[in-house]
Amino acid sequence: MANKAGIYILGGSGYGGGELLRLLSQHPQVESLRGVSRKHAGEPFWNVHPNLRGVADGVFEAQPDWGEFAQTENPVVFAAMPHFELAQQLPELEQTWEIHGLTGRLTLIDLSGDFRLDSSSEFEKAYGKSHPYPQALGKFVYGLPEWHKDKIKTAKRIASPGCFATAIQLALLPLAGLNDLGFIAVSAATGSSGAGATPGETTHHPTRANDFRAYKVLSHQHQAEILRMLETERTAGYSLAFVPHSAPLVRGIFATVQLHPPAALKLNSDSLRSRYENFYQQAPFVRLVEQTPRIAAVVGSNFCDLAIQESNGSVVVMAALDNLVKGMAGQAVQNMNLAQGFNETAGLNSAGCYPA
Ligand SMILES: NC(=O)c1ccc[n+]([C@@H]2O[C@H](COP(=O)([O-])OP(=O)(O)OC[C@H]3O[C@@H](n4cnc5c(N)ncnc54)[C@H](OP(=O)(O)O)[C@@H]3O)[C@@H](O)[C@H]2O)c1
Repeated sequence: MANKAGIYILGGSGYGGGELLRLLSQHPQVESLRGVSRKHAGEPFWNVHPNLRGVADGVFEAQPDWGEFAQTENPVVFAAMPHFELAQQLPELEQTWEIHGLTGRLTLIDLSGDFRLDSSSEFEKAYGKSHPYPQALGKFVYGLPEWHKDKIKTAKRIASPGCFATAIQLALLPLAGLNDLGFIAVSAATGSSGAGATPGETTHHPTRANDFRAYKVLSHQHQAEILRMLETERTAGYSLAFVPHSAPLVRGIFATVQLHPPAALKLNSDSLRSRYENFYQQAPFVRLVEQTPRIAAVVGSNFCDLAIQESNGSVVVMAALDNLVKGMAGQAVQNMNLAQGFNETAGLNSAGCYPA
């Protein structure tokens, strides 16, 4: 078990990088915290992330100093760059890490979609482009702690799940492996920070603030992660349709999963409640709530709140989480904790802010 970890964040100036810096600067077992940004090299972290003034003292570096980093006893690298970047850079990074004696010692946690899927054909179908480094596919453990805790504990390479995929999988995991669930309708809304720090047409405030729309209907890349989980758990006799929405929020994901399972499965209010309670007994960041989860109750925290309702055979499972925390940086820190043998909740115990 490691005592302290030294951290490098690739993509430290983005939203994920900012959240990693916020969480890791308060983490009791982080001994050094460094971040890379090409655009903001030489600037203090707080110049880009103003909430970190007086909290995280570092300065962005133009590129990592791997030689110096190799002196760290327990090196951990978080990659928080756009899709395809880590996959493109990894062959060269691996050579550099080998030269500096980091191979096999370093824990790499990727926040992008580059290594969440295991095959190049699955990746190409989900992301519409061929994978830049297919040889590395299948070498990352999928970092959903509520599903893969034991595998994460021994992993050196972890692919943290997508934000939608986290919420929807947490809503579905206790049902995975059942037969004949039938049609599963999934509708989920995200806040604008889901698209990252660079403004675009769909995230620009005037076009988004008073709007609500669907996008990537039945074709969102996270559907592949969700289906892979159901298949791995040998779920049979179901089909799933996922409709993502963009909501006039900055942070947050709210997912609604609806199904009408056959009576033979006996999924009524009581049995569902106990099934979910049992499944999430050892999951410190999943809370079962009454009526409905609320984004305002989870913003800024690593919690995912779930509510289950059943009436006349119709089952509704709802999930709410902060896309930048449990949907991203917080989950990545949870993965680091497990992989380093730290307490799973270290640095993540904050309740978030209410009202959001
Ligand atoms: N936002 C979310 O809710 C969310 C949730 C889960 C997962 N993710 C995934 O996490 C990753 C980061 O997301 P984000 O929202 O933090 O994105 P972001 O705000 O756009 O930040 C991207 C970061 O990557 C750096 N970067 C961009 N191109 C680079 C390159 N070619 N080489 C090195 N660095 C580069 C940028 O910094 P410089 O340009 O200054 O170098 C910036 O720091 C993405 O893959 C995203 O899909 C996002």
